[in-house]
Amino acid sequence: MENKMEWWRQTSIYQIYPWSFQDSNGDGIGDLQGILSRLDEIKDLGVETIWFSPFYVSPGEDFGYDIADYTKIDPRFGTMADCDRLFKEIHKRKMRVVLDMVMNHTSDKHPWFIESKSSKTNPKRDFYIWRKGTNKAPNNWISMVGKSGWNYDSQTKEYYYSNFLSFQPDLNYRNPKVKQTMFAVLDFWLKKGVDGFRLDIFNSIFKDERFLDNPFSFRFFPTPDNHDEAFFQKKQYNLNLPESFSFAKEVRKHISKYKQKPFLIGEVSGSDLVLKSFLGEKVDGLNLVFQFELIHFSYNAKFFKDLLEKNEKVFPSPYTPTYVLGNHDQRRYIDRLGGDIRKAKLLVCFQFMARGVPVVYYGEEIGRKEGRISNFFGKDPIAKLNRFVPLFLSNLLGIYINRDNCRLPMLWDDSNNGGFTNGKSWLPIGVIQKEETVSGQKNEPDSLWKHYQTMFLLRKKWDVIRVGSLQTISTDKKNVLSFQRSDKKNKIRVYLNFGNNPEQIGFKEKGKLLYSFGGSEKTENELFLPPHSGLVLEMGLSSKQ
Ligand code: NOJ
Repeated sequence: MENKMEWWRQTSIYQIYPWSFQDSNGDGIGDLQGILSRLDEIKDLGVETIWFSPFYVSPGEDFGYDIADYTKIDPRFGTMADCDRLFKEIHKRKMRVVLDMVMNHTSDKHPWFIESKSSKTNPKRDFYIWRKGTNKAPNNWISMVGKSGWNYDSQTKEYYYSNFLSFQPDLNYRNPKVKQTMFAVLDFWLKKGVDGFRLDIFNSIFKDERFLDNPFSFRFFPTPDNHDEAFFQKKQYNLNLPESFSFAKEVRKHISKYKQKPFLIGEVSGSDLVLKSFLGEKVDGLNLVFQFELIHFSYNAKFFKDLLEKNEKVFPSPYTPTYVLGNHDQRRYIDRLGGDIRKAKLLVCFQFMARGVPVVYYGEEIGRKEGRISNFFGKDPIAKLNRFVPLFLSNLLGIYINRDNCRLPMLWDDSNNGGFTNGKSWLPIGVIQKEETVSGQKNEPDSLWKHYQTMFLLRKKWDVIRVGSLQTISTDKKNVLSFQRSDKKNKIRVYLNFGNNPEQIGFKEKGKLLYSFGGSEKTENELFLPPHSGLVLEMGLSSKQ
């Protein structure tokens, strides 16, 4: 029987991109000591679970998503002693740790691949996917980055497969030794007490064993939540295979024996049916998957209402939806709002008050701006691959190429380099305005940072916000979204005005104002909502103390 109160259903996740969070040694790159020095501030914000993008040994060609040793810390970030201390200090502050686990592929500098590549008879040959092919790729599979996934190796005269970039060869999960080895990696970290894993491109784990050609599709551009039809191909045989759905259950079963009750959150993409298959028909697959609808939101009440209703229908409890506004691969949402903090507050209130797990990307809490680095000068390997596409064109087409732009260093204060580093930052810092930094917002009652803090606090305080059911409410105001969260003890009601005009809503019910922003008010008979404002009301009796 599923436990609806499992901790991971109730948590909120904060993503740290170690390269850009806090540098402690002046080399211009963030590191573990730096993160340690900021833990109190993270806790102060209200963060519950921290997800770290990879800090394992890596050549860094894809900034850690190309791993060369899964159980060692890359020296640019620190040592294993720093890591142990980091975990300890996080747990001491009653927060949890989620590590990024790139199971699909390694770096081509990983000793396993170096061995695998050395000869056709090497015992590690079958750790990766090798196929014959004379002057022609073994089949038509296109990788997620839009080119053939097959890479020719002139030494052994065979092709290896990579569903992302060519320096990231895919592991062969049809080889039981690969599974065993990766399970041992999970065990290594679980024994250190990690509370979960974020699984990188988990939808790519298995490939068709017959290596059949993918069928044609009319679609060219992928979207964050749909990679399975793109580049004129329906990726029937290299993404979202039934074996990957079953593997999700195997991994869940494997980790569930650990006493910390760890969880898995998968980066998968595809239709809701596909997402559900990863979660398991008995809710026994991945605990959570990222849901990326908010990445390409339309800023209107209907979009958000439809999303809530769809999630309640398709992912009813005990399925737990997730609400993701951004990550290290996507344009920052504040940019899509033209920097409008009022609108940002609305989105965040939606994200935190909905039934599900909110996922916050570092810097979102201060409205950290996007960079404007051209594709040509990008450090990101995706930018390097598309160097000659002008930034304005990729922006116009709505495709995100240079991910450096969403990875700019955190702005802590208005000192040199925003308090991120004493050295030369690995990515430009940009113009620093005090009111766009943590220290400039922490003590300002109307700041975005304070708003996030209140959201975290409300979720912590109210069981009903974390685990209550959700119903949308009709208001006959087309720009106002309203929904209610309920459990046996309480009811919480949320009103959000997405319009450019103020709205007045007759309100005769009992209700206590828990939080209001953007100038909204509750009078005896009415709710008053200025443009882009919102409020949260308590409709029930007691709260969790
Ligand atoms: C998805 C990660 O989020 C992205 O940053 C990375 O480049 C690819 N997977 C390859 O690991």
